[in-house]
Amino acid sequence: MKTNLWLSLLLASVLACACGKDDTRPPVTPTPPDPVDPVVPDSGTDAKWGLKDLAQACGMVIGAEYTYSEYTQDKQLQEVLKHDFDVVTFGNEMKHDNIVSGSGTISFSRPDQMVGWANDCGLKLCGHTLGWHSQQQTDYLQTLIDRAADADAAAAAIRDAHATFVDKMVEHFDVYAWDVVNEAFADDGMGSWRNSGNTEAKYHVFLWGNYFEGGTKGFADAAFRSAKEALARYGKKADLYINDYNLEWNPAKLESLCKYAEGNPDVTGVGSQMHCNTDLSVDAIRNMLMRMVKTGKKVRISELDVPQGSIPTNSQADLIVTIFDQYLKIVPEAQRGGITFWGVSDKNSWLGANKEPLLFDAAYRPKESYDKLYAYLLDRSGLDKE
Ligand code: G3I
Repeated sequence: MKTNLWLSLLLASVLACACGKDDTRPPVTPTPPDPVDPVVPDSGTDAKWGLKDLAQACGMVIGAEYTYSEYTQDKQLQEVLKHDFDVVTFGNEMKHDNIVSGSGTISFSRPDQMVGWANDCGLKLCGHTLGWHSQQQTDYLQTLIDRAADADAAAAAIRDAHATFVDKMVEHFDVYAWDVVNEAFADDGMGSWRNSGNTEAKYHVFLWGNYFEGGTKGFADAAFRSAKEALARYGKKADLYINDYNLEWNPAKLESLCKYAEGNPDVTGVGSQMHCNTDLSVDAIRNMLMRMVKTGKKVRISELDVPQGSIPTNSQADLIVTIFDQYLKIVPEAQRGGITFWGVSDKNSWLGANKEPLLFDAAYRPKESYDKLYAYLLDRSGLDKE
């Protein structure tokens, strides 16, 4: 019982942190986009067009996140991914603690299985992630620190470990984009770089910035430099993204991220995770996208999910269509990095199945949100409606 309570509290605090529950901005009813003909597909994987065909015809890519266990256990997942999406992100399998063991050895075997299947299906991969404060192999990193003669040697060992990780990842995986630095800014409402003073010290948090000259900014600079150099070393090309959450609700964080991207030529893309909810206003979406476009970098929505907010009349379907509509209207085609949903079926959402934040229900049936997004994209694409 105590364990269950502890786990519930931990989950609640992780959700609160990642979803920015501290935000107190008043909810605003979203303005729906112009109405379109209600063309409803027969059913997801039986329909002539997949969402990806429609999105491509509109000049963008559409993606989804999934994990190894979903990939191995859910037959329908594979059908849906092939039919509706053209880019994918692995939810956990390319993170530091999944690639590096406690003793520091590197293994790609699990993501390689997923990459092999994705390649066979023609799905392109976004690499997630080269630098994050969560899901680090802290056993290994702590060993490096403990073994070092002094603080300078410990910092040098951590910097080497990160540069090595980036090098091996870029060498091994062929991706169209890398999430190079994730969530580097704090939730203090001032757009500060994340550091030990403004971040709760949870067991899974490892602040790389503690070991770099210049703190988290120094870490971000080094991460982008390492990624760019590794791409050149291995003759590869990929967009290099910095991304964060709550950019739609936290203008200071948005400003800090965009300014950083503008000042670092190694950054080629800015990403907004958009773990949002149906209370989000169209103005908030517009303001965020316009600022991101102003950076001149690629603009990507990297982890979209939309649970119900507090306004009962706002619908998930309308907000998802609004997000795509604003994205296509505001982001010029040359700057479009696409929109990726953080999951496929509600049953596997990191938020919990009861939040129902995705396009497909627990049985992988397309929901109303799928149908409305399909109708919107079909109308805009000009593709054959038969
Ligand atoms: O693998 C272990 C398993 O052995 C163990 O039995 C089980 C018990 O809870 O945990 C499993 O690990 C879980 C892992 O997902 C794989 O399922 C971790 O506890 C759990 O914390 C982890 O959650 C992931 C979360 O990142 C970690 O912070 C979610 O799947 C993943 O969707 C989520 O993704 C992040 C993005 O990478 C960055 N942006 C925010 C987003 C949501 O938090």
